[in-house]
Amino acid sequence: MTLDLFSADEDALPSHEVICPGAVLLRRFALPHEANILQALHSILASAPLRHMHTPGGFRMSVAMSSCGTLGWVTDPHGYRYTRINPENNQPWPAMPAGFLQLAHAAALAAGFTDFVPDACLINRYEPDARMSLHQDKNERDFSQPIVSVSLGLPAVFQFGGMQRSDAAVRIPLGHGDIVVWGGPSRLRFHGVLPLKAGQHPLLGAQRINLTFRKAG
Ligand code: SIN
Ligand code: FE2
Repeated sequence: MTLDLFSADEDALPSHEVICPGAVLLRRFALPHEANILQALHSILASAPLRHMHTPGGFRMSVAMSSCGTLGWVTDPHGYRYTRINPENNQPWPAMPAGFLQLAHAAALAAGFTDFVPDACLINRYEPDARMSLHQDKNERDFSQPIVSVSLGLPAVFQFGGMQRSDAAVRIPLGHGDIVVWGGPSRLRFHGVLPLKAGQHPLLGAQRINLTFRKAG
């Protein structure tokens, strides 16, 4: 077998890479589910459209967001929080599809976290130049539960740092179908996404979609 053939095979397989204790990168883990995810997303976003929210400091986020599950994440001049009602339309957030729950549960398990049952899925849409600055996910009630983050569409560079914003961050290229899980000693590590480079993804076009599953309530 030539080296080229070998690496082509290797590129098609899922992989399991430990980033640091409690943080695992599962490359291509979501690929078998891409059609189901995209179909479900379509109907979720029809009832809870993506929108650019503002930070408590008054900045418009470059990432457009929505949510599904019993809790959705919002930010406005009053702060960051989870709500049961989407303030845009005064409706409950769309239900979390069974396929989302199963995928998040399976990814958490593959990363060593048993019994993960998320009640919130944040949907982030990055268009070229959109970014997310370093932050901690800390609006959830129970930090014993991990975060499961699914990347779809255009590639992005994920930054994964330490417990202080100023700690050095590793840069991890994430592609379509890749999942990062962080919990345990890594649960409160700072993380972010560098500005998205322009491009065209065969299924998603000129955007990256990220789903983050959380046990928020
Ligand atoms: C997030 O930290 O909520 C999003 C991370 C990502 O888009 O990969
Ligand atoms: Fe986050």
